[in-house]
Amino acid sequence: MTQKATAWAPANIAFIKFWGKRDEKLRLPMNSSVSFNLSNVFTVTTVEFDKNLVDDEVKLDGKIVDGKEKDRITKYLDKIRNIARVSTRAKVESKNNFPVGTGMASSASGFAALSLAASSALGLRLNKRKLSILARIGSGSACRSIPDGWVEWKEAGTSEGSYAYSMYSQRHWGVCDVVAIVESTKKSVSSTEGHALVESSPFYKCRIGGMRKKLKMIKKAIGEKKFSKFGEILEAEAINMHTVMMTSEPALIYWTPETLRIILKIKEWRERGLEVYFTIDAGPNVHVICLEKDARKIERLLRTIEGVKMVVVNQVARGTHLV
Ligand code: PMV
Repeated sequence: MTQKATAWAPANIAFIKFWGKRDEKLRLPMNSSVSFNLSNVFTVTTVEFDKNLVDDEVKLDGKIVDGKEKDRITKYLDKIRNIARVSTRAKVESKNNFPVGTGMASSASGFAALSLAASSALGLRLNKRKLSILARIGSGSACRSIPDGWVEWKEAGTSEGSYAYSMYSQRHWGVCDVVAIVESTKKSVSSTEGHALVESSPFYKCRIGGMRKKLKMIKKAIGEKKFSKFGEILEAEAINMHTVMMTSEPALIYWTPETLRIILKIKEWRERGLEVYFTIDAGPNVHVICLEKDARKIERLLRTIEGVKMVVVNQVARGTHLV
């Protein structure tokens, strides 16, 4: 007999970022973060537990996965098997709607989909909070892809206390994330490695010191749908995080000339009256945050910039669910 389930999970974009952990193994963050789910960047994963298998089999985007990558998934499945008290091996098949190498096939959507598919296949009926905790242990920001729409991931000293919840549904406010995907020649340092370097930046203490106030302000701006306030905070926050990255030892420089070119264009558009703001994760792609009414125009404008390979318009999406 086999036990099988398929889950859909979105990637998410954070406006208050997770950068730095207080507990490496449990992936407990130093600070709370705020994000929304992306409608057009997602993963679909099927997990099938089968008593006839002698080992887990993992396929990502059609390719059999081995080595370190597979190890991380097997260890993660072991945690879920432990909860369900079984030892059955599984076949995992995961598909991203994005080609690898664009910096878009994210571990957040990957581990969110895997946590729901694997736990459901084993008959564990976890509530959203428990599922978010399980996803967090796979990859920190994955916990934010579990709840619907606009999400906060709470910082806490214990594993049970640090989960993500939905502040507002995907229908709360028509904001878009228009992602500009740029050329990237070098493979960037993974976020797992990056988190470990935060303490080496002289600016990290200062970043954490200002967090509480910033969180309160952005949650108020989202609640009251004040777009300019929201945009100013999220843009300053992205620059703040990248300052810590750039001043770590060794320095993490994720920006490329294309990244900076887009940043400067955004400033120019804003001066001309188009309300747009940017945020950037651990890579060179630029997430352009705007109101729904301006999304198509911004998509067109971004396509004219040299070095922009692809543009993807995202609405706010619901969270991880079975399909
Ligand atoms: O979840 P991780 O370990 O991939 O870290 C995510 C780090 C950032 O994308 C840079 C910030 C965030 O909050 O998503």
